[in-house]
Amino acid sequence: MTTFRRPKGEVCVVPSLLAADPGALRRDLARIAAGGARWATLDVMDGDFVPNLSYGPAVLAALREGSGVMLDAHLMVRDPVKFAPLFAKAGADLVIFHLEACPRPRPLIAKLRSMKTAAGLAIKPGTPAERLLPFLPDIALALVMSVEPGFGGQRFMRAMLPKVRLLRSAMERARSRAWLAVDGGVDARTGALSAAAGADCLVAGSAVFRARDPVDAMRAIEQAARQAFDRRKTGGTHGR
Ligand code: DX5
Repeated sequence: MTTFRRPKGEVCVVPSLLAADPGALRRDLARIAAGGARWATLDVMDGDFVPNLSYGPAVLAALREGSGVMLDAHLMVRDPVKFAPLFAKAGADLVIFHLEACPRPRPLIAKLRSMKTAAGLAIKPGTPAERLLPFLPDIALALVMSVEPGFGGQRFMRAMLPKVRLLRSAMERARSRAWLAVDGGVDARTGALSAAAGADCLVAGSAVFRARDPVDAMRAIEQAARQAFDRRKTGGTHGR
């Protein structure tokens, strides 16, 4: 398992394979990896926590082989305690699970750590960002959903930006090195808004894989977000 070495202060676009060609996931992953992607996400859905069904651990294991790309599993599942170790065993570098499905996440975070797998915590739009604060020291990534989880291609919820600002401020106070991710409806415009609010990890599915040139699209989002993130640090706009 490779551990993603976090370049200092960098902003990262993480393509979501949910919007890739389901019959050619390995081909689409290889294409964006050749274009510079260092990290991709697999949206795992159980048809219960969210009204959609997607991938099992065998798909992650198959994608992992020879990809050279860090893979995370974003578990949108009712029972992450059951499924997270399976994705860690399949080779996920990072397993992200929802606080709504695991309100006492520390044992599962410890379990993943014992499997040499980083842990991330996600919150749905209806969950206050404050619920994540106690766990910031324990996680490698905090994920703010900017759509109701379950499907790609939805409209970005700008109302989630205050949650990003709150978490970024808390992470700066705590000198946290965790990633702060936004997922759902991310494109160059909304990715810049998210980065201006403090997000440094931008999950994008449709805006990448539905684009005429996915690599160009990924680079455009990353460039827009990096400029916005850097302006934020130098006291520029704050994603208003
Ligand atoms: C929602 C999924 C999507 C996906 C990205 O459950 O998690 O947010 O990753 O989808 P787009 O970028 O198409 O909104």
